[in-house]
Parts: sequence; structure tokens; C-alpha cells
Amino acid sequence: MTKEVILTGIRSNAELTLGNYLGAVLPMVQLQKEKHESYDLHFFIPDLHSFTTPVDHSTLYKQTIDHLRTFAAAGFDLNNKSTKIYRQSFIPAHSELFTILNNFAYMGELSRMTQFKDKNEQADTVSSGLFTYPVLMAADILLYGASWVPLGDDQKQHLELTRDLALRFNNKFGETFVVPHEWNKQLEFSHRDNGVRIRSLSNPTKKMSKSVDDPRGTILLSDTPEEATKKIMSATTDDLSEIDFDFEKRPGISNLLQIHSLLTNQTIDQVLELWRSKTSYGDLKTVVSKSVSDFLGTYHEKLAQISPEIVETKLAEDEAILNERTASLLFQAQKSVGLRK
Ligand code: TYM
Repeated sequence: MTKEVILTGIRSNAELTLGNYLGAVLPMVQLQKEKHESYDLHFFIPDLHSFTTPVDHSTLYKQTIDHLRTFAAAGFDLNNKSTKIYRQSFIPAHSELFTILNNFAYMGELSRMTQFKDKNEQADTVSSGLFTYPVLMAADILLYGASWVPLGDDQKQHLELTRDLALRFNNKFGETFVVPHEWNKQLEFSHRDNGVRIRSLSNPTKKMSKSVDDPRGTILLSDTPEEATKKIMSATTDDLSEIDFDFEKRPGISNLLQIHSLLTNQTIDQVLELWRSKTSYGDLKTVVSKSVSDFLGTYHEKLAQISPEIVETKLAEDEAILNERTASLLFQAQKSVGLRK
């Protein structure tokens, strides 16, 4: 019997942040531990997505490998038999399917994607690559028949678009694609019922983002413990002077509580047992700084032990297998639209 596919990816456009680590890396590591016996896992770097917004192209290749080293340092088992790791641009079927699907996506629905709208407002010009990238993301998912796509909640609309495109295509041409499960089921599946979203330390109503220029609000995984401590100690809070978990009223404090709970492997309720109703934001910041510093120290040590060669060897193996495997689904889609007989 074929196993259901779990698939997720993370761009390599910039250095990884603590937000990426807690929102994507750790959940993926946990998912692999929990599900590798019953599911096929696909974990990839959507490297063609990396420059939908401007990047330093001279470091892109290295950054892709370094991202995968980060996963390995976080406990992701690169040699697990049920897990495939790969780069999008090394499997041309992604781009082929993207070109086909682009003709079934509507300008209106793509213009409503909040990620596109946000970036469009921030920049003078945006690329058409940014506009259409949710369609490439749909191709990434549909190409492997993935039912489960663990994502942070900033990607919810993109999952919904993927489902819409799959259904639209299937309705027109007959069953071609597996339609991934809907958002709420995805959250339950990956235990992210509240959709982890780590916020910027300087502007906690926004997510901690690697692509927005927000050095004070972003903890990079390459930060030293001292740099991270400085950022946490100057994190924006509120003037309510009472600790509680409430992203509406106390986004800054809630962000710190969330970071602390994830790094110390406790639930928010467990963290709140100690902190609820306390009034010193400084004390909380000191404790969170310690958990972040301890984490960074250990992480840097582990990362140093994983060479780029280990990662490149595994990538080459899996990409060869998947280039063969994706050919059949691509052929099916090409046949549906009349490109093959
Ligand atoms: P990307 O690279 O922006 O983010 C990768 C994953 O990290 C999550 N994430 C966060 N979670 C919590 N807090 C944060 N501050 C935070 N920042 C990022 C994101 O929700 C995501 O799960 N379009 C995707 C990449 C992609 C993809 C795919 C993912 C392309 N094709 C197919 C899955 C399947 C993206 O830009 O993610």
C-alpha cells in the first residue's frame, strides 16, 4: 500500500531566523520523529522561490545547503528511509507543472494573496515572480500527491489556493491531483492548532521575518547569545504592566512567552503558571534571554558538526529518484491538457 505524503519546504532567500526555527524547523523535526513509520516525508528547499524578492545571488547556493544543515542540527535525520530531501530547481517537473497550472489560476485570486499585497505595498516595484509564486507552490505540492502540508499560518491562503487549483483541474480534466486536506485538519495533524507565528521583537503585530529589514526585531540563528540577549532586552512590550498571554492586547509579552514555551518544551499554560499576573517585564525578558542564549549555544555547536558534503550527497541521491518519480504525474497533467497523447 502506498503511504500518504507529508510535504513541506522552506525558502533559502536569507539567513534563518528564530521564527523559522520555531515555526518550521522544529515542527518538521518532530513530525519526522512521529510520523516517519506511517508516512512518506518530503522536505525540500524551494530555491526558485528564493528570489521572488531581491536576494544576494552570490550566497544563494551556500545558503540552501546551510538551511539543510540547520535542519540536521535541529535533529532532522537526513538518512531516514521514509524521508526525501531535495531542491526545487533540481527537479524541472516543478517548473513544468507551474507553467501548466498558471493558465488555470486567476489574476483576481492571486491579487488577493496577502503576502503579495503586503510586499507590493512595501516596495516600489515587485516582480511577476512574486505574483505567481503561489502557483509554483501549488505545483510543488501537487506534483507529489501530498495530502499533508505543515505550514505556518502566513501560508494558509497558499494552501487554500492549492486546493482550489487541484479541484478546478480535477473537475475539468478528471481526477489528476490529490487534493491536500483543508487548513484546520492540517493544523490538527501537525499539532499546530493555533498556528505558531513568532512575531518581530520590535513590532510584535508583524511576524518575525527574514525578508523585511528589521534587524532589531529579528533573531537570526547566526546571532551570538549576546546579540540575541540585546534584542530581547529591548523588545517592544506594552504599558499594561501585567503578564498574560493575549496576542490582541499584549502582543510583545505574548510573543516572549511563546518563544520561551517552545524553547523549553512547555505548554503556554505551564509557562503561565509561573508568570501570570507578575508585573516585571524585565524579569521575563531576562529569563527568555537565557532560554534563547542556551538554545543558540547548543545549536551552534551541533551545526559545526554537519558538513556541506554530507548534505549534498543525500540531495543528489534523492533528486535522482524524484526526477524519475515525478515524470509520471507530470505526464498525466500534460496529457490532460492535450500536450501528450
Ligand atoms: P517560508 O520560507 O517563508 O517559510 C517557511 C515556513 O516557515 C513558516 N514561518 C514561520 N512560522 C512561524 N513564525 C514565523 N515568524 C515564521 N516565518 C516563517 C512558514 O509559515 C512556512 O511554513 N511559500 C513558502 C515555501 C514553499 C512551500 C512550498 C512550503 C514553497 N513551496 C510547498 C510548503 C509546501 C514560504 O515562502 O515559506
